[in-house]
Amino acid sequence: MKPRILVTREVFDEVLAQLCAELEVEPNPTDRPLPPEELRARLADKDGVMCALTDRIDSALIDACPRLRVVGNIAVGYNNIDVPACSARGIAVTNTPGVLDETTADLVWALMLATARRLTEAEAYLRNGEWTGWYLKQLLGTDVHHATLGIIGMGRIGQAIARRAAGFDMRVLYHNRKRVEPALERALQARYVAMDELLAEADFVVLQVPYCAATHHLIGAAELARMKPSAILVNAARGGVVDDAALIEALARGTIRAAGLDVFEGEPHFNRGFLALKNVVLAPHVGSSTRATRLAMAMTAAHNVIAVLTGRAAPNRVNPP
Ligand code: GLV
Repeated sequence: MKPRILVTREVFDEVLAQLCAELEVEPNPTDRPLPPEELRARLADKDGVMCALTDRIDSALIDACPRLRVVGNIAVGYNNIDVPACSARGIAVTNTPGVLDETTADLVWALMLATARRLTEAEAYLRNGEWTGWYLKQLLGTDVHHATLGIIGMGRIGQAIARRAAGFDMRVLYHNRKRVEPALERALQARYVAMDELLAEADFVVLQVPYCAATHHLIGAAELARMKPSAILVNAARGGVVDDAALIEALARGTIRAAGLDVFEGEPHFNRGFLALKNVVLAPHVGSSTRATRLAMAMTAAHNVIAVLTGRAAPNRVNPP
């Protein structure tokens, strides 16, 4: 009998075909996020799960799924999964690194540019019929070219963001848990600085760290106060890295100029305070959302799940076997 898996969200047909060649697959064609009780009931007799960041894979769920051998997340981040609980039960946890770096970096740049040049505000102005003519001080924005970019988190996505800065003649500062190799610093023309220096110097502060206990509210009231009043914050990493209530307050008071956000605390139930602000550009967690990249992510997750359930090493296992 083939190993049995649950695919918690709708995926592309070619991914399902790949899975079905090796495994018995229970899909979720409605794409409705499965409530915890339903997830538990459906997963109770499965050997694996291909899931998304909308699924919480916690120890109570794992305890209810005695056959489970692999959790294949369709994401590079895996803060939705209790990895130590999986490891304790010998369950492999896998993610999708690499395939979404460039696409996510593009979205970060889209947020930087749109926020600096007030694009969503400008479009609303036009759509609302407020545009009656040209004037010199109309919707004045901030220059991106020749500005200072501060990247917090210099992993693969941070590096892809930094590479793009060369085309805008930007000065690049970064902060990371570990300083990257000198050769890479040279290639990226990026200078390692302490977090406080980055916050004080950068015109654009871009967050690219995973969410975990150490990065919870990494940017709160104190950090926002260290930034320039003209600075722009961009977060396309994870909700919870920023204290959203503190950010709303800082944006309303002019502590910083603006923010571009693709992720929120408690998403999709984000803090409605953002909606009252003009100096934000908001997106619904679509950093990796191009067809090619979402397909590559789902295919990567499928290959990981198939590998574990057919007795091979998963290419992207995050916990040691
Ligand atoms: C998306 O947010 C991901 O972690 O892949």
